[in-house]
Amino acid sequence: MLSPDITIIGTGGLGSALARGLNAKDISIKSIFNRTKAKATLLARQIEVERSGTFPNSTVEVGELIFLTVPDRCIKPVSSRLASLDDEWSNKTVVHCSGNESADLLDDLKQKGATTASFHPLQTFPPESSPDRFEDIYFNMQGDPSAFPLLKRIAEQLEANSFEVDDNEKSHLHAAAVIASNYLHTILDIAVGTAVLGGLSREESKKALLPLVKQTVENAEKFSLEDSLTGPIERGDISTVKKHLKLLEKNELLRDIYVELGRSTVSLAARSGAISEETADQFYGLLK
Ligand SMILES: NC(=O)c1ccc[n+]([C@@H]2O[C@H](COP(=O)([O-])OP(=O)(O)OC[C@H]3O[C@@H](n4cnc5c(N)ncnc54)[C@H](OP(=O)(O)O)[C@@H]3O)[C@@H](O)[C@H]2O)c1
Repeated sequence: MLSPDITIIGTGGLGSALARGLNAKDISIKSIFNRTKAKATLLARQIEVERSGTFPNSTVEVGELIFLTVPDRCIKPVSSRLASLDDEWSNKTVVHCSGNESADLLDDLKQKGATTASFHPLQTFPPESSPDRFEDIYFNMQGDPSAFPLLKRIAEQLEANSFEVDDNEKSHLHAAAVIASNYLHTILDIAVGTAVLGGLSREESKKALLPLVKQTVENAEKFSLEDSLTGPIERGDISTVKKHLKLLEKNELLRDIYVELGRSTVSLAARSGAISEETADQFYGLLK
């Protein structure tokens, strides 16, 4: 499959993983740029990209598809700086990878003829992420629809999926991603903190809880969220919830979290038909 020449600007967590991911799939990278030159030079050497530096000097140095993988706050200034390089951008597609920002941040380039879009991977890329981290993930694409066939093709080459979103869908999806990823992490920290109250160490607690977390995610993958719910609320076990509330009564924050998440769990259990309306009301009476 023919690929466009690609340029990556910003070689942090996502930019370096993207460069390695594209390279692993034999997709041609024309140039790599990064504010700190040494990082761009090292990455370019590792994956045999000829041109690297802090910033392109002219449009000759950039490919047909340009990824701006700089922090969100830098997307607009980098886009303006790129636009000032040339008055003719009509043969280039420029995308940023922010989940929160729309393609409008690239308007300076759009006004000069570039096709612009956002291309956000629903995945987390800490430093030194492996190139296969794109496999099976979902990219959402927003902006100029004429960019989408090319972006879809890039996603396919990375063995990822892609779908189109409008501004509103994109913003809600990003909030959802924060809840599903970051807050899951936070909930695990809160769960460990709860176990520690009973006398276990953080390390022991984390080790014991992790297989449970993994299986929960696996169940959610195999079945609907309604069908895969387990636990005392799904079983209608009022006395267990009462006991937990008693245990946590001295810790207001933990109790509040238990109550709020418990109420949402009751709603899910009622929706799935696991508990009757009457049992749900009993839970709601306790969880307040
Ligand atoms: N990492 C993730 O998990 C993830 C996931 C989905 C989407 N994203 C999106 O991907 C984008 C990049 O995020 P990140 O986490 O990869 O950021 P990051 O790790 O902080 O890396 C940003 C990179 O951009 C470089 N940079 C900053 N200003 C620049 C400029 N003016 N010109 C050239 N390079 C510049 C930085 O250079 P220095 O080396 O000098 O600092 C750094 O290497 C963001 O839009 C983010 O929302 C990230």
